[in-house]
Amino acid sequence: MSAYQIVDHSYDVVVVGAGGAGLRATMGAAEQGLKTACITKVFPTRSHTVAAQGGIAAALGNMGPDHWTWHMYDTVKGSDWLGDQDAIEYMVREAPAAVIELEHAGLPFSRTADGKIYQRAFGGMTQNMGEGPAALRTCAAADRTGHAMLHTLYQQSLKRDADFFIEYFALDLITEDGVCRGVVALNLDDGSVHRFRAQAVVIATGGYGRIYFSCTGAHTQTGDGNGMVLRAGLALQDMEFVQFHPTGLYGVGVLITEGARGEGGYLTNASGERFMERYAPHAKDLASRDVVSRSMAMEIREGRGVGELKDHIWLHLDHIDPKILHERLPGITETAKTFTGVDLTRQPVPVVPTVHYNMGGIPTNYHGEVVTLKDGNPDMVVPGLFAVGEAACVSVHGANRLGSNSLIDLVVFGRAAGLRLGETLKTGIIQEELPKDSAELALSRLDKFRHAEGGSPTAEIRLDMQRVMQADCAVFRTDRTLGDGVAKIDKVYQRMADVHVTDRSLIWNSDLVETLELDNLLGQAVVTMRCAANRKESRGAHMQEDYPERDDKNWMKHTIAWFDGWGGNGGDVRIDYRPVHDFTLTDDIQYIKPKARVY
Ligand code: FUM
Repeated sequence: MSAYQIVDHSYDVVVVGAGGAGLRATMGAAEQGLKTACITKVFPTRSHTVAAQGGIAAALGNMGPDHWTWHMYDTVKGSDWLGDQDAIEYMVREAPAAVIELEHAGLPFSRTADGKIYQRAFGGMTQNMGEGPAALRTCAAADRTGHAMLHTLYQQSLKRDADFFIEYFALDLITEDGVCRGVVALNLDDGSVHRFRAQAVVIATGGYGRIYFSCTGAHTQTGDGNGMVLRAGLALQDMEFVQFHPTGLYGVGVLITEGARGEGGYLTNASGERFMERYAPHAKDLASRDVVSRSMAMEIREGRGVGELKDHIWLHLDHIDPKILHERLPGITETAKTFTGVDLTRQPVPVVPTVHYNMGGIPTNYHGEVVTLKDGNPDMVVPGLFAVGEAACVSVHGANRLGSNSLIDLVVFGRAAGLRLGETLKTGIIQEELPKDSAELALSRLDKFRHAEGGSPTAEIRLDMQRVMQADCAVFRTDRTLGDGVAKIDKVYQRMADVHVTDRSLIWNSDLVETLELDNLLGQAVVTMRCAANRKESRGAHMQEDYPERDDKNWMKHTIAWFDGWGGNGGDVRIDYRPVHDFTLTDDIQYIKPKARVY
């Protein structure tokens, strides 16, 4: 018998998370006439999408030639041929309409002189199937595109009468016989426990960048949905692929947008050399993120970093007209000044590759339905469960995401999920009662940590985890670092059995809530390290120096990993693989065959 009073709710659809993907799915489900709730840990416009700066990719061709097939080619190449080409085709074809929809919904895009949506260059975005110059494809609202997007989508969701449960922390999914039937959440304002019954749950909880020490992501980015999925006995996909953004602000971790290089910024080393010309002679500073981050790390490693410790790189914008910087990059101008005291109109900005994005996540098809590898079928749909945005792995980004393909992923697949929900659900269905013990998984976990009186403070375990991930699962990896990493992260995981929770209140910022978040993070850290240790090749963001080449024959496949280690041995990770989708959706474009990836 539970000691908690449970408040019950019933909806057709419950979306967990109110970033760009969660809000677009909420708006889409409500638009289909489905009774829709959105549960969110933070106020919607504070979700981490708010920090997306440079823009959203779509082949509008407002500022030069462009075509969706070129966008597709760049995305496949950017993914280092690990992206599923059916999903990529879907995303890039839908992209222009998705951006126009945002424009009509009120998103205040920057404008060209003739009033069209302004588009800038971003890494890896080219014309003519990689043969031509940079494509101006990234649609921008100055350098605050994500911020503008959240306001637009939140308003649109409210307009369609979606219900919001704000500052509610999702604890666990409710599943029965392999079907997802709802979710249990904690109201962080008053500590009450809520059970949401739903025909479908959409996970849109974002990434899990906070398993690392230095990260552009918010402190709230703890991959709570991924944690819930692992505890429900489902798998995560491609977790070894973690993106380092080339330009995190040195010593702070805050993002300096790739749009800075899109507007003409460039990187230099200690001798003032524009070193990207050596590593990527064609694309230079606008090569894909994995390439630029690795080149910067190489410069630092070989003693050509800048500053007293020679441990970072300069980003120059001081040659650009201050009027342009004021108009197009006001956010980072302020950020550089606030956090480092640098006036970027006159001085270079200190930057360093910083964890930014998780290519891996909850495997889905291009409708946003969660899939699992079962009985030999790699694409078996899990009834009642959807995932979108960074929490999901659809997989359009494969082994490396191109900048500005994240925002487009959010809205295209958020919308796709809304459409699929409309096709597959009937509104107003009286749902069967939930099993009596349906909240047990969530509540027993809550209880466990409420009474945790061991010797290891939560903050200490979290720091341990972040240090291990930063040291042993970074830009460059080897058998030795990953082997050490596996042993070390398992030990950190085992410390959770000895966690000490000081403030046990069921509300915001309590040690208990941070412990629940850490519990989510730790499972993902263990899985990430194991998946990285298992992949014996280099592809995209996974640079394994003992296997420096991409190995398509043996490794062009998605990693699928289950975590069976809850409460015990962190080593209980099961790994399998599923084929990459080597087909397209229509005959308008053929499968893009793998080739060497040079920029
Ligand atoms: O650099 C940026 O503005 C980030 C964009 C992205 O991650 O897509």
